[in-house]
Order: sequence, then structure tokens, then C-alpha cells
Amino acid sequence: MKRITKAVFPAAGMGTRFLPATKASPKEMLPIVDKPLIQYAAEEAIAAGITDLIFIIGRTKRAIADHFDKAYELEMELEMKGKTKALAELRRMLPQGVNCIYIRQPEALGLGHAVLCAQPAVNDEPFAVILADDLIDANPGVTKQMCDLYDYYQCSVVGVQPVAPEETGAYGIVAGEPMSERLLRMNHIVEKPKPEAAPSTLGVVGRYVLTPRIFHHLQRVERGSGGEIQLTDAIAALLKEQQVLAYRFEGTRYDCGSKLGYLKATVEYAFKHPELAEDFSRYLRERLCG
Ligand code: G1P
Repeated sequence: MKRITKAVFPAAGMGTRFLPATKASPKEMLPIVDKPLIQYAAEEAIAAGITDLIFIIGRTKRAIADHFDKAYELEMELEMKGKTKALAELRRMLPQGVNCIYIRQPEALGLGHAVLCAQPAVNDEPFAVILADDLIDANPGVTKQMCDLYDYYQCSVVGVQPVAPEETGAYGIVAGEPMSERLLRMNHIVEKPKPEAAPSTLGVVGRYVLTPRIFHHLQRVERGSGGEIQLTDAIAALLKEQQVLAYRFEGTRYDCGSKLGYLKATVEYAFKHPELAEDFSRYLRERLCG
């Protein structure tokens, strides 16, 4: 039985909703309190036992590689100044045995195309896909929950959540046969349907565990919604020949691709931050209650 040891992090999008912040660095580098989104995503993968982190990077390629690279000069400086806490935090970022792989997506042709770019690094193995702008607060992490399901069912699993009926046009929407309270055997998936055409209100939110057969379909799907190569369309083809599960995960998801979702995540993570929680709560109370 193959365990999942690889995760793909598509991070080559244009990030237009956050311009100009995303002009020179990808939206996955936006911080929530003191860590960039991509680091939360990497930590979620590592907590699931994943050892190969495969980043699909685009135009603003340097920031992510620099972030995960060892920063000798910075570490030396922190050491000299006795800033041991910050130093320990930096050194903890990538545990021993975890490798980073960077693959360039030359053109932003869509999420499906980004995942296809990972094929040379993934080869013939099942793998996870994590969209860092969907930040999910969960314990255990959603990727761990989904890798456990993969271990048991040995098939692809897609993370879903109920979305507002009027918002189906922003998501991949799934339908299927219920297997248990949180699991569906998927029989339908469609990218960004209008509310009147949506088969349900269960939306895909940035977490996938896929069998390598997905690459076969990614190579063949035509451009879909928005003129892009869609991962959703390849999953629709995959479920005709393999079982695919939709999993209503346990956890709170913040849509950090939108400004409001990003601000909500910032507030919630500040409330949980050991150094900030108290002062920040006091500030907010005063600010709101006048
Ligand atoms: C992508 C996927 C979509 C999914 C969404 C989750 O869309 O194509 O199926 O529901 O991520 O956040 P995007 O938000 O990149 O347009």
C-alpha cells in the first residue's frame, strides 16, 4: 500500500484581487498575523506525514523559494543578537527529511494545468493538492484527515463544504451518494455552475488527494470554465473509471483569496496568537464598543 508523501501547492496565479500587494510576490505569501499562507499550507502537509513539497510557481517565482530556503546570514544575525525565539521559529520551519521542489508554470493556464506541471515530480504516486489561499483551521489538519481516508479507501478524495446557494459560481460543485455522515461517493462534479444549474451546494474548497491517473485526464481535458484547464474537469473524467469520494471535512475554512475572508482569518488567528490574543481582544472591544 502506497502512503501519500507528496503534496502539490499551486502558487502561480495572478492574485489580481490583491493587487498591488501581489504585484511582486504571490498571494500565497500574504501573511496571516506572522506567517505567510504558504507556510500554513506546508505545515498542514508536514503534519500529515508528507515529505516532498512541490511548489508550482509563476511570474513572482522567487519569494516562495526564498521563504523556504535556509537564510544563513539572517540566522547568524539573530544568533549574534540573542534572538533565540525567532531563530528557533525559523529553524523549525522545515523539519529534517522534508524536501522542497520548485516547478515553473510558464503560463497561467489554470489549476488543472498547474497540477499537470507537477507530474515529473509526482510520477506514479497518489498525492495531495493544497490551495494555500483556502486556509483551514482544523485539528487534525484537513490533509491528515484526507490522507487517512485515502489509506482506508485507496481512492481519490476531494474536500468539500456547504456553500451559499448564490455562490455556486465560485466553486467546483459536487453531488453523489451518501456513504456516511461526512462521505459521499461522488457521481458528479462541475466547475463554477450558475445556481440554477448546480447539482448541489457542496463546494470544493482547496483540498484534494488524487491518484496519479488524474494526469492522464489532465493531459486530455479541453479548456473549460474561464478558458482554463480545470482540475474539476479532469476529476469529472476520473470518476467515470475510479471511485472518487467527497469528504465534508471537520474544520473552519477561510477564503483568503477574498479580502473579507483574509481579514476574518487575520482576526481569528490573532485571537489565537499567544503574544497577541489579550491585547488584540482588548483593542477590538474598545474599537467596537467605543
Ligand atoms: C478553484 C477550483 C474550484 C474550487 C476552488 C476552491 O477555483 O477551480 O473548483 O472550488 O478553487 O477554492 P478558483 O478559486 O481558483 O477560481
